[in-house]
Amino acid sequence: MNSFYLSNPYQPPQAPKNLPINQPWALFGGISPDQFMKQYWHKKPLLVRGAIPAFSLASASHQGLNSPISGEALFNLAGNDLVESRLIQSKPWSFELGPFKKKSLPKVKQPDWTLLLQGMEAHHPAAATVLSWFRFIPDSRLDDLMISIAGIGGGVGPHFDSYDVFLIQMSGRRRWQISEQKDLSLNPNLPLKILQNFVVEHEWVLEPGDMLYLPPHIAHDGIALDSGCQTWSVGFRSPSFKELLQEGLWRLAESLEDIPELNHKFADPKQGASKQAEQLPAELIKQLEQKLRGLKLDQLSQFLPGITAYLSEPKQQAYFSGPAIPLTPKQFARQLGSQALAAHPQTRILALNRDIFCNGEMVSKGQTSQIQRAWGTLASKKALIYKDLKEVSPSSLYEAYLSGWLVFKI
Ligand code: SIN
Ligand code: CO
Repeated sequence: MNSFYLSNPYQPPQAPKNLPINQPWALFGGISPDQFMKQYWHKKPLLVRGAIPAFSLASASHQGLNSPISGEALFNLAGNDLVESRLIQSKPWSFELGPFKKKSLPKVKQPDWTLLLQGMEAHHPAAATVLSWFRFIPDSRLDDLMISIAGIGGGVGPHFDSYDVFLIQMSGRRRWQISEQKDLSLNPNLPLKILQNFVVEHEWVLEPGDMLYLPPHIAHDGIALDSGCQTWSVGFRSPSFKELLQEGLWRLAESLEDIPELNHKFADPKQGASKQAEQLPAELIKQLEQKLRGLKLDQLSQFLPGITAYLSEPKQQAYFSGPAIPLTPKQFARQLGSQALAAHPQTRILALNRDIFCNGEMVSKGQTSQIQRAWGTLASKKALIYKDLKEVSPSSLYEAYLSGWLVFKI
């Protein structure tokens, strides 16, 4: 007899500690993450029926399975000014930015609207769990988990995105139409980015538990077929080279502060009398060239720390508040021996070899080897238990705890 119990609402299971990247996985229709990356990622769409098997198992045994987050809870989140939310109505097209008072939102049974909520991983553990299933894709590429809830007929219109997206159907049905068309021109008369000529090539109705993966620039349109339709989308970041290099350069410029020798002033005892006084002196150019060569400013390794720091910056809406009654360094060290310290859901931690960057700062810099090791574990596992941690204060780990970037798991 079947002994497992299917909860209602659906409780997404925690991903295994080390994601089995070479094992077949229902989430990708029975192929492994490794195969998915080779065959589909950034290349072609993939429709997966029963990506979350719990939904079809539940309906086979005549049990309904709801989204882990109720429509009511999503409406409440839309009123929170720390949540980025948008309301899109389709007849006629209109667009509003949140936060929204309950009264200003349509009723679930009304047609032709959709409410989009970004960064849900920070506001509900089920959203954070679903996002963690995709941690075989580098953290620096992962953006957030967006949830849309819609009335019948609701959608954002035919459009394209510049990044990859996994669209997971969590409640009700949604009809997806897609096209690999080259014409991506937008209708200039609408307040939203909507394609002027959408030529449907494929169409599917997604049931709860189904998933559609789309690479960038695939035209798509999802229309809700049931009221309270929920689609959870895992979105990615794709910064331009301009953005990366500019951000790297800013930070590189700031890091020159740490080189006292650069405070020396330019001197020109060899400057002769000049017939072309308006020209920048050759001696200045020569000395600048020597300095630049010394600093190795033409080498990528000089830029990468700044670029990694930039990519580790949290979202603009991120909000951290430290513990109301912080543990002393001694208590902190003791607690860390038995209770996991975890990254706050809005904290971003990235690694560049052994250097660790958290929320825009290089937190491994100038730290003891124990603290550096602790950060390494936090970067890879997002959680840390550490027995016998010495020299807690001063340390970037304790500071990050005081700032609310790291929190003890309850
Ligand atoms: C939606 O969830 O309704 C929109 C997601 C998308 O098309 O990118
Ligand atoms: Co889209």
